[in-house]
Amino acid sequence: MCGIVGILGKQPVAFDIVEALRRLEYRGYDSAGVATLEAGHLERRRAEGKLRNLEARLRASPLAGHSGIGHTRWATHGAPTEDNAHPHATDRVAIVHNGIIENFRELKQELAADGVAFATQTDTEIVAHLLTRELKSGRTPADAVRATLGRLQGAFALAILFEGEDDLMIGARRGSPLAVGHGDGEMYLGSDAIALAPFTDRVTYLEDGDWVVLSRGGVQIFDAAGNRVTRPISRSLASSLLVDKGNHRHFMAKEIYEQPEVLSHTLAHYIDMASGTIRLPEAVPADLAALKRVTVSACGTAYLAGLVGKYWMEKYARLPVDIDVASEFRYREVPLDPGGLALFISQSGETADTLASLRYCAQNGQRILSIVNVQESSIARESDVVFPTLGGPEIGVASTKAFTCQLAVLACLAIAAGRQRGVLGEDDERKLVRSLIEVPRLVGQALKLEPQIEDLARDLSRARDVLYLGRGLNYPIALEGALKLKEISYIHAEGYAAGELKHGPIALVDENVPVIVVAPSDRLFDKTVSNMQEVAARGGRIILLTDAAGAEAAGDQPFATLVLPEMYQFVQPLLYAIPVQLIAYHTAVFMGTDVDQPRNLAKSVTVE
Ligand code: F6R
Repeated sequence: MCGIVGILGKQPVAFDIVEALRRLEYRGYDSAGVATLEAGHLERRRAEGKLRNLEARLRASPLAGHSGIGHTRWATHGAPTEDNAHPHATDRVAIVHNGIIENFRELKQELAADGVAFATQTDTEIVAHLLTRELKSGRTPADAVRATLGRLQGAFALAILFEGEDDLMIGARRGSPLAVGHGDGEMYLGSDAIALAPFTDRVTYLEDGDWVVLSRGGVQIFDAAGNRVTRPISRSLASSLLVDKGNHRHFMAKEIYEQPEVLSHTLAHYIDMASGTIRLPEAVPADLAALKRVTVSACGTAYLAGLVGKYWMEKYARLPVDIDVASEFRYREVPLDPGGLALFISQSGETADTLASLRYCAQNGQRILSIVNVQESSIARESDVVFPTLGGPEIGVASTKAFTCQLAVLACLAIAAGRQRGVLGEDDERKLVRSLIEVPRLVGQALKLEPQIEDLARDLSRARDVLYLGRGLNYPIALEGALKLKEISYIHAEGYAAGELKHGPIALVDENVPVIVVAPSDRLFDKTVSNMQEVAARGGRIILLTDAAGAEAAGDQPFATLVLPEMYQFVQPLLYAIPVQLIAYHTAVFMGTDVDQPRNLAKSVTVE
C-alpha cells in the first residue's frame, strides 16, 4: 500500500506534494512525509497520523526546494510513528517506498555487519543504505540504483532523490504501480494518475520491472534487464478535481446515496434499453456457450460480489463457477484447462493478491476478464477484456457503490451467459433485464429506511458481537453486512449461511447478541423463519430485513423489521445491500469512529 509522489519542479514543491498525497490518502494514512533538496541538501519533514499533521509541520517549518518526494504510509514494517515515516534518508539519498522488501532481514544483517546503524524498523531504510553504499563506492546514481534493484526481492515502487542532484529523480516499479507524469519543463512520479492529475494529464504507466531516470528535460526508462525502452505517453482521464463530500458528512454516506445514479450509468452500459436486452460493451474473451467453468478471484467486498455472481451464473446460465479469495487462490496451484475464462473483480484494480491471481491465470492459459472501477489500473491494463463499473471515484475506505456496481455487471454477465448457453430464452432475458432496470428506483426506496436504521444503530452500538444470517443469494449479503460493520464500527460481526447456525454459531446467541437476518419472502423464507425461531428461543434480538409479505409472516418474532420493496428475486442482493451499508454506517457514526478512514485499513491493498 502507501502512496508515493515525486516532483522535479520550477517552484517550491512541498505543498504540491501534499496536494498529490491527499489524492493518495486512500492508500494509507498512518503517517506522511516530504523530502526536498534545499540548496542541494536533503531535508525532511514527517508527521505521525493524517496528512493535516504533516501540513501543519510544513507550515511551522517550511521547505523551499524545487525537487521533492513524498509519501503517505500504511505501516507494514514498524509502527506508524514519525521515525518510521517516509522519506527515509542517509547523507546521500532520500527514498519513498510502497510495498515490501521481502529479503530485508538478510540485507539488514549484511549491512549491520558492514557497520551500518539503523534509525528505524522499516524495510525501506535498508534500500537507502544499500544505495548509499553503492554511491560511496563511486557508482553514479543510476548505476547505484541498478545494482541495488538487483539485490531486492518483493513487490515495491520507489522514488529516490540524491544529495547534490537537483535535476535528478529515479523511480522503480516491481509489483506495485508507478506512473511518470510529463509536465512543461517539470517531471513527476506518482503511485497513480489521480495523484498527478493536478499537474499533468500526460502519463506513462511503467511496466513491471521498469526503472526510470528523470530530469526536468526528459526521461530515460529501462526494463528489468537494464535495456533502454520506450513506453507510450497516454492522456489520463483522472480528473484534477478532488472529489468532495457534497452535503454529506462522510464520503461513505455520499457514496451510498450515489447508488441510484451510478447503478443507472453502469446498467445503461450493459443494457440496450430500447430492446430491454443485454448488450455487452465487448465480447467476453471466451466462448460462453462452450465454457466448462469460470474461475473467479477477488478480495474482501469484491470477493463477496463474486460470490453473488456465482449464484447467478450457476442458476441462470448453468455455468459452474470456482471462486476463491485471491490470497488463497494465488498459491493453491489450481489446475486450469487451457482456454478457460478467469474473472477478476476489483474496485481499485491494484489489489496485490488479485493481480497475482490474474497473472497466475494468464500464465496458465486462461483468458482474462476483469470487472474494475479504476480503468487505468494494473488489473485493467493486464486483462484481455475489461468490463468497467461506472461508479466514479470511491473515496470511503468501506466499499459501497463499487460493490453494487460490481453486482450490476455480474448480473448482466450472467444473463448474457444464460442466453448464449441456451438456458434463458428471449422472454426470460427481457424479464430479468426489466428487473435490473427497476433497481435504481428501488434503491432509492431502500434508502428511505435510513431514519429507522439510525434508531437501530444506537442499540447496535452497544453490542459486542453481531451475527448476520442469509441464505442463497442473500448469504453473501450477510457476509458483506458483517464485513462492513466490523471494518468501520470495530464491533465484532460474523456472517453465516442461515442453515449453518446450528452447526456452531448458535452457541454465541444470547440476549446481548443482535442477529441481523437478510430474508426476503422467497422460496427459502420458511427455512429462515425456523432459524429465527431458534435464535428467538435463546433470547437473541432479531433485526429482520425483508419485504411486506416476509414481515407479516415473521409476526412479532423480530425485535425490529426493516421492510424493503417487493422485487424480483434475481435483483435482491442489489437491494438488500443498501440497508446493510446503512446499518454499518450509522452504527459507526454513532460510535464516533473515523468512518471514511477506519483504523488499520487502506483503500487499495497493494501488499500481500
Ligand atoms: C471492504 C473493502 C475491501 C475491498 C478489498 C478489495 O469494504 O472495501 O474488502 O473490497 O480490499 O479491494 P479492491 O476491490 O480494490 O480489489
